[in-house]
Amino acid sequence: MIDFEKFSKYSKPGPRYTSYPTAVEFTEKFNADSYIEELKRQDSKKPLSLYFHLPFCRSACYFCGCNVVFTSKEEKKDRYIDYLEREMKILSEYLDTSREVIQLHFGGGTPTFFTVEQLKRVIDLINETFKNFSKDAEVSCEIDPRFLTREQMKLLTENRFNRISFGVQDFEPTVQKAVHRDQSFEVTKNAVDLARSYGVESVNIDLIYGLPFQTLDSFKRTLDLVLKLDPDRLAVFNYAHVPWLKKTMRKIDETTLPHPSVKLEILKYTIDFFTSNGYKMIGMDHFAKPDDELFRAIEKGELHRNFQGYTTKGGADLIGIGLTSIGEGEDFYVQNFKDMFSYEKAIDEGRLPVHRGVKLSRDDLIRKAVIMELMANFKLNVPRIEKEFGIDFKEYFKDSLEELKEFEKEELVEISEDEIRVSETGTLLIRNIVMPFDAYLKKIPEKKRVFSKTV
Ligand SMILES: C[S@@+](CC[C@H](N)C(=O)[O-])C[C@H]1O[C@@H](n2cnc3c(N)ncnc32)[C@H](O)[C@@H]1O
Ligand code: SF4
Repeated sequence: MIDFEKFSKYSKPGPRYTSYPTAVEFTEKFNADSYIEELKRQDSKKPLSLYFHLPFCRSACYFCGCNVVFTSKEEKKDRYIDYLEREMKILSEYLDTSREVIQLHFGGGTPTFFTVEQLKRVIDLINETFKNFSKDAEVSCEIDPRFLTREQMKLLTENRFNRISFGVQDFEPTVQKAVHRDQSFEVTKNAVDLARSYGVESVNIDLIYGLPFQTLDSFKRTLDLVLKLDPDRLAVFNYAHVPWLKKTMRKIDETTLPHPSVKLEILKYTIDFFTSNGYKMIGMDHFAKPDDELFRAIEKGELHRNFQGYTTKGGADLIGIGLTSIGEGEDFYVQNFKDMFSYEKAIDEGRLPVHRGVKLSRDDLIRKAVIMELMANFKLNVPRIEKEFGIDFKEYFKDSLEELKEFEKEELVEISEDEIRVSETGTLLIRNIVMPFDAYLKKIPEKKRVFSKTV
């Protein structure tokens, strides 16, 4: 049973830990040359996971926290593909592109805002560059249901795409109006049906709670409609309102945002709703059907988490291609330029468009292993970490374990000799539970932490 009182008491702002160290620690000291050194050193037997950022959208959803370029000019998109092609060429000089690819993800923006011809060009370029896709590669695309044609779906499924993630957010007209996203149930249903008719294995739907004018009743109506779409997976994100970082969010009237107590009611209802309708909760914001491989992986403690969310495929080097995209190797993170000017300039000069990154120290690696394991599987096998890194866990993490005592007292975690195990309520507080293991957070005074709220 989830104890929501405890949840709201202990929930405080914190990073989402899609990486450790978090992106705040990335610096320009790690540059294109550092990345090249790392690429050359990579083990070519290790598989690859590819991320392509396709950043374009026609109009701004005011809540959007993604890295988006708004345009309706075809030349701009064509020009972007030219640069992707050139980036891949430069990359191929340093990366063994014959390595096996086990994952490919198109993120955005809205990848299907590219025309079918443009999408085909991107896919052909990828196929020409990376020829060794594994048979069971996980190939996924984020899609705004308002921008999807039969031809696009056909093209994607003919080119191995087997997972689609659709953005819905909320079906309520008042909410949609306030966030500038007009998307009917019919349009969404047609898109989902289209994906299924082309044999897509897994359909995910994204929802957001905490948007303007949402109430428990309005969200209930959205959930009823979502259930009719019978998604295989769901992501229910807490709205991250960061208007100091994202200009379009300033268009949202903050007085219309639901009170934290309403958000909590919505969250509570959502969890009950999906769990009583045959879904299982995976982590803080995901649900999946029990026969979904994500769920089977969590049972076996084999779930992984990367920048794209939860996955069953671990152990690959992640290569990010395109504006703002992030790559990850054994002991480094790297991120491309976020602004188009710098991105293009680097490529024009024949350089990889690296903006910044970080090389992980031994301490980073140990903490990363602990944080990522807890974030993904909600338990930590202590002897495994001790053996892998040759440390005495209790000694190494003396301070962190001291901080965790408060959570232990509240039965949010169970700590034994061999294991740290997160309780069901603790699952919702996982960011807070792993924060004691974060060495950088301690250096930022609590008042200065500018993360979005956890509730
Ligand atoms: C790139 S978009 C998905 C594809 C497509 N552009 C769309 O909107 O349908 C990624 C997802 O991030 C989530 N998202 C965007 N901004 C957010 C925010 N500020 N807080 C929480 N979730 C957010 C939304 O659920 C969105 O579907
Ligand atoms: S939520 Fe999706 S469609 Fe809306 S602006 Fe962001 S990326 Fe574009």
